[in-house]
Amino acid sequence: MSFLECRSISKSYDGKHALKDVTFEIEGGDLLSVVGPSGSGKTTLLRIIDGLEKADSGEVLLKGKKISGEPFLHRKMIGMVFQNPVLFNTTVFNNIAYSLKFRGEEGETIKKKVEEMLKLLRLHDLRGRNALTLSGGEAQRVALARALVYDPDLLLLDEPTANLDPYNVSIIEEVLQRSNREQGTTVIVITHNIFQAKRLAKNVAFLLEGELVEFSDSAAFFASPRDSKTLSFIRGEMVY
Ligand SMILES: Nc1ncnc2c1ncn2[C@@H]1O[C@H](COP(=O)(O)OP(=O)(O)O)[C@@H](O)[C@H]1O
Ligand SMILES: [Mg+2]
Repeated sequence: MSFLECRSISKSYDGKHALKDVTFEIEGGDLLSVVGPSGSGKTTLLRIIDGLEKADSGEVLLKGKKISGEPFLHRKMIGMVFQNPVLFNTTVFNNIAYSLKFRGEEGETIKKKVEEMLKLLRLHDLRGRNALTLSGGEAQRVALARALVYDPDLLLLDEPTANLDPYNVSIIEEVLQRSNREQGTTVIVITHNIFQAKRLAKNVAFLLEGELVEFSDSAAFFASPRDSKTLSFIRGEMVY
């Protein structure tokens, strides 16, 4: 049984396909990068896996269980980081603690887990700052801390480092890799930056106009893609 299975997922908006019959599966502990030009359906796919969006047809299975239409199951197992973080109007500490409070964890446990996250994401000096005053990179690190603090089985990230400076990109990439290696967190990260995919991914999925053109391990994806469109994308020849 695979960890996550997407079976024939299709989705249209106003009669136009955003996703066409997308099927793939990943094992637990994988780090999958979803790449593709703008408008290729990457965000739609992630939102369907997260349960924020409903597919027109097809289904998503997590550990063999159908999770399409089961938001509660999603919330317990999946962490999500958006391209533009949405933080609450309170301290960095409280932002990170929020999901633990919501889950009914007790004070000492919350404190310990939040401290770990502050350290991991190098946010300790910012713990008392109002999260709405942070820079883009700091805010994204808080968003990642908030998603990781309850140790999700699956972490989904939608272009988490788009528009960030190299310092913040390197912290976020390092934390993703550490969570994946050390906690065994399964990660799906969307990026339109193929260099990032190359640095991070074990497997790469290439979406183009809503279709899954290629899905393979990272080495094969970059060294010997099966589809000529993949080759053209990784060579940077695709206009988007
Ligand atoms: N809520 C929506 N309403 C209408 N069209 C949408 C909506 N969300 C996405 N789309 C369309 O679906 C296609 C795929 O979008 P998206 O998944 O955001 O692509 P990507 O993340 O790869 O840039 C695009 O043509 C986009 O305009
Ligand atoms: Mg997108």
